[in-house]
Amino acid sequence: MAAPFGGMGAPHRPVLLRETINFLAAERGGLFVDCTVGSGGHSEAILESSKETRVIGIDRDTEALDYAAQRLAHFGSRFHTVHSDFREIAHVLGDVDSQKVAGILVDFGVSSLQFDSPTRGFSFRFDAPLDMRMDPESDQETAAELLLRLPEEGIARILFEYGEERNSRRIAKWIVEKREQGKPVTTTKELADLVARADRHRKARSIHPATRTFQALRIAVNHELEGLDHFVEAAIDLLQPDSRFVAISFHSLEDRIIKQELRRLSGYCQCPPVAPVCSCGARRVVKILTRRPVTSGATEIDDNPRARSAKLRACEKLVSG
Ligand SMILES: C[S@@+](CC[C@H](N)C(=O)[O-])C[C@H]1O[C@@H](n2cnc3c(N)ncnc32)[C@H](O)[C@@H]1O
Ligand SMILES: [Zn+2]
Repeated sequence: MAAPFGGMGAPHRPVLLRETINFLAAERGGLFVDCTVGSGGHSEAILESSKETRVIGIDRDTEALDYAAQRLAHFGSRFHTVHSDFREIAHVLGDVDSQKVAGILVDFGVSSLQFDSPTRGFSFRFDAPLDMRMDPESDQETAAELLLRLPEEGIARILFEYGEERNSRRIAKWIVEKREQGKPVTTTKELADLVARADRHRKARSIHPATRTFQALRIAVNHELEGLDHFVEAAIDLLQPDSRFVAISFHSLEDRIIKQELRRLSGYCQCPPVAPVCSCGARRVVKILTRRPVTSGATEIDDNPRARSAKLRACEKLVSG
């Protein structure tokens, strides 16, 4: 097989690995679903926890799946990959009896394999077409196409909401101006240069000025926040009693959706106090295991800067759920 990711560097380093494996209680064995297999770091640790574990690894990126399948080939039939969006989890597990899953993990965001790729357009460190699709085989719109289609306010809103970019309006205005001059922004370098110019009067930032814009566009291109609430509910419905769901998020909006959904599924009604009847669908099917999100310690953050913004939440399916 050709070297995956153009022979690029080291695999993605799994975040909060020990904590994840402990929460999943993977040593008990059984069928686990890794909804975001990436390079397979978390999957590997689950498979190593007990000879009785099996993992179905889902990813929407076929390059990641090929890479993980190759890396974890020594586990034989205990590791099985599926190319899909994890929001289709119920469909992916269609053949498995419902409530037979021993644990489910989702580790959101991009993997280092994607971020360190010189051709996929996720990073301003490499000059490449502005693509940013996690599933490059899909017919989804690329980041360049999104910037061609959206009105100025739409671009500004994405940069502000998903990236908290302070220069969102100026950046959006300049993107649209270039488009109107017949010179649309189509590469990572063009976008990074434009953002840096929009930021030139600010004091030095601790991160590259284009970081937030690139993050925001990636979230929009991949519709990363859509349907997460339904996904959490569908995943938890597949769990057998006593087994766990673990989610690691890297963005406050993502974490908020997970937090609210876990609260709802732990029976906490989130309807306004004046509502005559509950309409939020609160039901008590899980016990929350993390009153506050678990975060990485200083050593892990020193070792792996990506861990800095990680927040892990976990819950356990109730026997009667
Ligand atoms: C942070 S990485 C996972 C890393 C992995 N835990 C490891 O140890 O290598 C996230 C992965 O999730 C995938 N992904 C993101 N959103 C997805 C979705 N909606 N459906 C399926 N895969 C998704 C990305 O393609 C990426 O490979
Ligand atoms: Zn309610």
